[in-house]
Amino acid sequence: MSNFAWVTLTTNDTYSLGALVLAHSLKRAGTAHQLAVLVTPGVSESMRNKLKDVYNVVQEVNVLDSQDAANLALLARPELGITFTKLHCWRLVQFEKCVFLDSDTLVLQNCDELFEREELSAAPDVSWPDCFNSGVFVFKPSLDTFAKITEFALKHGSFDGGDQGLLNSYFADWAHTDINKHLPFIYNVTAFASYCYLPAFKQFRDKIKILHFAGKMKPWLVQFNSESRTASAPSDYAHATDLIQLWWNIFCDNVHKTLTDKMHTKGVSSDNFGFNFEAGLAGALSQLRLGEQRTPEQDAYEALMRRQCWEAGQIDYAGKDSFENIWKKITETLESKPKTETEQQDDKSGSS
Ligand code: UDP
Ligand code: GLC
Ligand code: MN
Repeated sequence: MSNFAWVTLTTNDTYSLGALVLAHSLKRAGTAHQLAVLVTPGVSESMRNKLKDVYNVVQEVNVLDSQDAANLALLARPELGITFTKLHCWRLVQFEKCVFLDSDTLVLQNCDELFEREELSAAPDVSWPDCFNSGVFVFKPSLDTFAKITEFALKHGSFDGGDQGLLNSYFADWAHTDINKHLPFIYNVTAFASYCYLPAFKQFRDKIKILHFAGKMKPWLVQFNSESRTASAPSDYAHATDLIQLWWNIFCDNVHKTLTDKMHTKGVSSDNFGFNFEAGLAGALSQLRLGEQRTPEQDAYEALMRRQCWEAGQIDYAGKDSFENIWKKITETLESKPKTETEQQDDKSGSS
């Protein structure tokens, strides 16, 4: 068996949905190498069993958290302190070489050639191209490197509060020393389109090997219709609609049937939308019946998604959350509101 492995991380059942789709995307692309996933205690037993079906190694690790609220605020992603947990990947010393992939990445074409690269190879980050993006990187497991990076972290922290700031400071010569360590952008293409992005996205679309849903919008957070099996991309992701749909196609073909309502996500609200949301997003998705007529479960699931998107600051201004729709809802609610006692009295005195 190959001594190389693709490695990802998940700390809860929701990111595990990403890890499952990612694993199937790697298999579809015909990789010859092993798959490993780092999980923390936040991943349910039931989800770990599903991960074991596709990953050769499911390694439990403890959470490492930068607890750096100030720098995470600059990134506007308070939840990413725990991405320090990624550092455990250097402890997978049973492998000779690995490629780390965020669980919000999707492999579109075989890229086994990445294992020919040396540590630390990565693609430029779109926001600051003299830094690499840490959603995809080639590394060599080593307990010595793990100790050195954690020691460095204790001393210097991370400028973005997450692993990317830390790793860019630790591997500081990446920007200017060895061009072979600069992966072509096609190995880590950000789905979100920034200024000047669209023409190039269109031009090089077929060359993309790994797509990365970096940022708050994740494919598992977009609206999905279980009857037609279609996902609707938020308006600023329109250029990537087919790729978001591909994520959902893999989900429907390979992942959906393996989910159970025993899966959960810490922190997901358990409002009574119609079924048990204690089970979290993975649990909710397990209850959808694909290709069948819309059910109350589908409506309830959509309500949960909309709420999660709102709470994560993802508001689809031009689509479902448009001013028009919100105004319609407010009007309906006001019109259906029972009249107050004074209004009722006014009505009576008016009619007498
Ligand atoms: N991650 C996780 N749980 C979390 C947040 C992040 O397991 O609550 C892991 C997961 O592998 C994820 C990676 O850390 O892909 C980096 O986070 P994310 O992809 O959300 O960061 P972004 O790429 O959007 O900056
Ligand atoms: C980034 C990377 C992600 C990393 C996060 C925190 O934008 O895409 O992999 O975990 O920032 O540093
Ligand atoms: Mn990511």
